[in-house]
Amino acid sequence: MKDRKIYFETYGCQMNVADSEMVAAIMKVCGYTTTDDIQSADVVVINTCSVRDNAERKIWNRLEFMKGLKHRNKGLKVGVIGCMAQRVGDKLFDSGAVDFVAGPDAYRHIPELVEETDIKPVADTEFDISETYAGIEPVRLDRESISGFVSITRGCNNFCSYCIVPYTRGRERSRSADDIIRESENLLANGYKELTLLGQNVNSYKCDEYDFPKLIEAVARRVPEMRIRFTTSHPKDISDELLETIARNDNICNHIHLPVQSGSNTVLERMNRKYTREWYLDRIAAIRRIIPDCGLSTDIFCGFCGETNADYMQTVDLMETVGFDSAFLFKYSNRPGTFASKNLVDDVPEEEKVARLARLIEIQNRISLQRNHSDVGKVFEVLIEGESKRSSDMLFGRTQQNKVVVFDRMSFEKGDYVNVKIIEASSATLKGIVVQ
Ligand code: 5AD
Ligand code: SF4
Repeated sequence: MKDRKIYFETYGCQMNVADSEMVAAIMKVCGYTTTDDIQSADVVVINTCSVRDNAERKIWNRLEFMKGLKHRNKGLKVGVIGCMAQRVGDKLFDSGAVDFVAGPDAYRHIPELVEETDIKPVADTEFDISETYAGIEPVRLDRESISGFVSITRGCNNFCSYCIVPYTRGRERSRSADDIIRESENLLANGYKELTLLGQNVNSYKCDEYDFPKLIEAVARRVPEMRIRFTTSHPKDISDELLETIARNDNICNHIHLPVQSGSNTVLERMNRKYTREWYLDRIAAIRRIIPDCGLSTDIFCGFCGETNADYMQTVDLMETVGFDSAFLFKYSNRPGTFASKNLVDDVPEEEKVARLARLIEIQNRISLQRNHSDVGKVFEVLIEGESKRSSDMLFGRTQQNKVVVFDRMSFEKGDYVNVKIIEASSATLKGIVVQ
């Protein structure tokens, strides 16, 4: 079989990064090796996101570039996979740049799809509720990284009214604990120092006798040399049992990403989030009680259907009350096919959404700065990830709390653990000195 080269371009969440690595593994069996040079590729795979309209617009623009590339390289095949492939389907062929389209449950078919494109463009967007990609050992695409992803569930059953994911990734299913543990051990064997367990809602993991607390503890004990992270947790399902599991296992990082989305009960109800502001604040109190030094981050978006200024101020108030270390902040984007798109009115004017978002960013920057300042003088264990972008004399790494710390290189290397005393803080990074 002729050796063929495949190039991956991955957009969106960490789940997509993990999926690209799985597709790389599926293609490897069929004689494809991955390349970092798009010009030398026989196949280009673009793994896409649909979560907001601007994520999709970016892909349409990128497809213009691919058209030029195909013009210069006649044999090149371009495929679109991921959430936008599922949502937009064969309309992607209108770009004139796409040979095949594969939704998140169709990745095992990609080798055949590539062959079929010799005749005409093909799309496979069938859902397959039994597909967990069992038995596939991902090909790691970022060879520089000390941190790898392990997906534990696929799909989502929550149907938040604004969200496209249940429609693009289908119903939730859990991968077997054996597969997850084996993949974790392989990461360790290949020199990785950290792994992140991934799912749309990791707390609802269930397979045989394993729920999420049991699973993460089993992984943590099997690879005690590694740091374990996880994302994403849904506030309605995060249990004290999980918090206690994190607290008693040193190698499970003290950091929780807990998307709140809004601080207003009316808005939360309209979003179908199935919790209240009070419930969320109780969960934050439980985190602070059980894991006192836990890092906290969140996702919030403003301008959802019917969000009044009073609702918005409730979000601001919640941000001030909790004091997140960091937050991903967005403005609402109407996604066709969702409950909100079909039944609610996208009535906050665009200029108002923009203004509300700008204010949220300002507020969070101030809070992040305050949170980071409170770390000055403290000592943290930092896992070194690489050279600082600013200077080759500096290295950077992360604390368990997921904060980035820069410090003098000395004789340390990527993958080492160092204790760093924080001496300076900005809203995005900490600066420190090594205190072995
Ligand atoms: N508009 C804006 N933001 C959204 N998110 C999900 N759907 C939308 C949407 N339609 C945000 C949520 C989610 C994050 C991944 O993206 O905050 O947690
Ligand atoms: Fe990930 Fe959601 Fe974007 Fe799909 S739509 S790639 S699940 S963030």
